[in-house]
Amino acid sequence: MFYTIVGSQWGDEGKGKIVDWISSRADLIVRYQGGNNAGHTIKVDDNLYKLNLLPSGIINNKKCAIGNGVVLDPWALINEIENLKKNGINIDKENLFIADNICLILPIHKILDQINENIREGDELGTTKKGIGPAYEDKVGRRAIRLCDLKYPELLKKKIHELFKFHSSKLSLNKINLNADEIYSDLLSKSEYLNSFSIPLWKLINDYGKNNKTIVFEGAQGSMLDIDFGTYPYVTSSNTISGQIFCGTGFGNKNNHKILGITKAYTTRVGAGPFPTELFDEIGDHLGIIGKEFGTVTKRKRRCGWFDSVLVKQSIEINGITDIVLTKLDVLDDLTNIKVCIGYEVDGQKLDYFPSGEFYYNKIKPIFKTFTGWESSTVGINKWEDLPKNAKEYVQSLENLIKSKISIVSTGPDRKETIDVNGILLDL
Ligand code: GDP
Ligand code: IMO
Ligand code: MG
Repeated sequence: MFYTIVGSQWGDEGKGKIVDWISSRADLIVRYQGGNNAGHTIKVDDNLYKLNLLPSGIINNKKCAIGNGVVLDPWALINEIENLKKNGINIDKENLFIADNICLILPIHKILDQINENIREGDELGTTKKGIGPAYEDKVGRRAIRLCDLKYPELLKKKIHELFKFHSSKLSLNKINLNADEIYSDLLSKSEYLNSFSIPLWKLINDYGKNNKTIVFEGAQGSMLDIDFGTYPYVTSSNTISGQIFCGTGFGNKNNHKILGITKAYTTRVGAGPFPTELFDEIGDHLGIIGKEFGTVTKRKRRCGWFDSVLVKQSIEINGITDIVLTKLDVLDDLTNIKVCIGYEVDGQKLDYFPSGEFYYNKIKPIFKTFTGWESSTVGINKWEDLPKNAKEYVQSLENLIKSKISIVSTGPDRKETIDVNGILLDL
């Protein structure tokens, strides 16, 4: 059985928690896109872990892999591994595999990320400044340094110099002095460490598939941040949707796949871009405080708003989501009334999808339906029958609006605080 965990909104839906929860029964957990712009939080009893590059299954002592669709910052990776090791998490070449054809993020990419934001002057995207966009640009531009290049120092040196040459005019225009030889030496000194994880990952993943192993594909970001289907240009630079698992890992099996759409019971967004149901009042502040909505990576305050069924329904179709996992239901506990967006109005016309044109972004007006809250605590509830009546009705109404079953409901950050509504874990 294969499971893909994909965010259905603008990221931070609780993917890390759900991957950790499901990984207890998995044989391999694989990241397939994004990079250390991701921040996945896992809570196990009193321990809180924040992962950026490593698959969340590593906390459960599972075999994990980073696919070629990811852009890998070697410095960030080493940091993350060493920090986790200090916390007693075992990581070595027996349980971490990295695709040898993965493209690297170098310090130059972080600088370019900042320069590109500066150029947008007043219309910044609000990136995480981790160099994600520039690294993907170099990948598509066919000049990226890949993990496999670290085995060949002369080739590596030549490629780094070529890369610097390509960006030289932009760097000198911005008076940035970067030394290619220094980056080369630094990278070379880390090559033995990095090479120990490097394998033709596509082979391993397909072998796992053929041997009926359970693989969990861990998405980063959310579908509305997808480079093609998101709110372009206010998106990340990778395809975040489930279709990317095949390109981002080389896995060829399209069968026996459950695609879990991780979905917050309300909506949040970090960084710039359209957000039709955004709240600018005390309810928005309340969601932010109770939901602890601060960015895992950049510590920025997340923008908060009501649940948008138009957007989630669109994600369900684009991803082929088979089951929705509704997270953070408990954050709505104190509200007397809860609104849900059931459609859009643009220039007086009704619309049942998020339009592509930037021209429309500021014109989208949400049409809301109001539900009565339950005004009691759902924190930590792990049985469907224990939820208050109005909370059950809220979940069921969302199912009707998004036309998909909600199979898992999350009522707290800990793996124990999870309702397996239809017993989908039993399939594992
Ligand atoms: P991810 O990027 O999708 O993995 O999500 P983040 O980890 O960035 O943000 C989700 C936050 O919500 C984390 O702090 C989680 O610990 C927390 N969280 C996850 N599920 C729940 C839940 O059901 N209730 C509450 N209150 N917090 C949750
Ligand atoms: P997880 O996996 C929320 C957002 C940034 C910015 C835009 C582009 O934790 O859900 P980038 O640095 O990728 O070029 O920034 O994308 N963004 C995220 N927002 N969660 C994330 O990851 C994000 N990763 C990137 O805030 O708006
Ligand atoms: Mg996050």
